[in-house]
Amino acid sequence: MDVPQRLIDRISEFEEADRAAAPLAGAVHRVTRRDAVKNALSGSALGHQLHPVLTDLPIGAWTMASALDYFGGTRHADGARRLVALGVLSAAPAAAAGASDWSDSYGGDRRIGLVHGVMNLAATGVHACSWVARMRGRSKAGVALSTIGLALTAGAGYLGGHLSFARGVGVNRTAFEPAVTEWTRVAALHELEERKPLRVEAAAVPVVLVLVDGRVHALSATCIHAGGRLDDGMVIDEDSGPCLVCPLHGSTFRLADGGIERGPAAVPEPRWQVRIDSGEICVSRRTVPAARGF
Ligand code: FES
Repeated sequence: MDVPQRLIDRISEFEEADRAAAPLAGAVHRVTRRDAVKNALSGSALGHQLHPVLTDLPIGAWTMASALDYFGGTRHADGARRLVALGVLSAAPAAAAGASDWSDSYGGDRRIGLVHGVMNLAATGVHACSWVARMRGRSKAGVALSTIGLALTAGAGYLGGHLSFARGVGVNRTAFEPAVTEWTRVAALHELEERKPLRVEAAAVPVVLVLVDGRVHALSATCIHAGGRLDDGMVIDEDSGPCLVCPLHGSTFRLADGGIERGPAAVPEPRWQVRIDSGEICVSRRTVPAARGF
């Protein structure tokens, strides 16, 4: 096993980190408990997670600052200093979105995310010191600090990439569901009780059926956010109509189109078409248009 993987495994298994992670996650939950805040930081309005979008700015600014430091000569010193400042300023919203995502993780993922966040915080601090040094005319110290900061940013980015690509954090959990385009019988109508979610399967894909006011709704039963079972969720009424709340982190999906009323989900839940044939419920993903985030 290679060294980075062994290191990540160590972090993942370091349970002592939970003593800091648990209260910190609780504090982030308190700050993000309002729907508008959670939706904004999750990227629910974008239909895409916000954190990876926002990280491009500080990483890009700091990388370009170092490129100017090493290849631009003294005539680009002002530009490099401004880029360092831009990176520090733009790190704040990226960190806020990342903290919101992180607060909904558990176990090893949360420990790795904690180290990712601490490294990014340290990188931002070092870059801020670089900016101060540059403002005081200590350009060599500024360049050295930027280099250290960029190395920390790269290490943090490695951990962030590992969380997404190796551990599947933040990945749409329904992305690999096969498209069931044939009408498939999944239940008899009399099996459904008003507002009580029923888990069924269409060609081995889990689907949740919900009967509300005589209308049968169908969504994929696996929450797109982190795989929660939507059939264990609660049906509530919002202004936009009946919604299903995920029991794991409270993502709230409209039954009519799978759109998001509340994050942390950033992508709409797949909606299935429903047809009733002689008292039998049939579902299909054939012609359902993509739902909007809001
Ligand atoms: S699994 Fe997180 S909101 Fe559903």
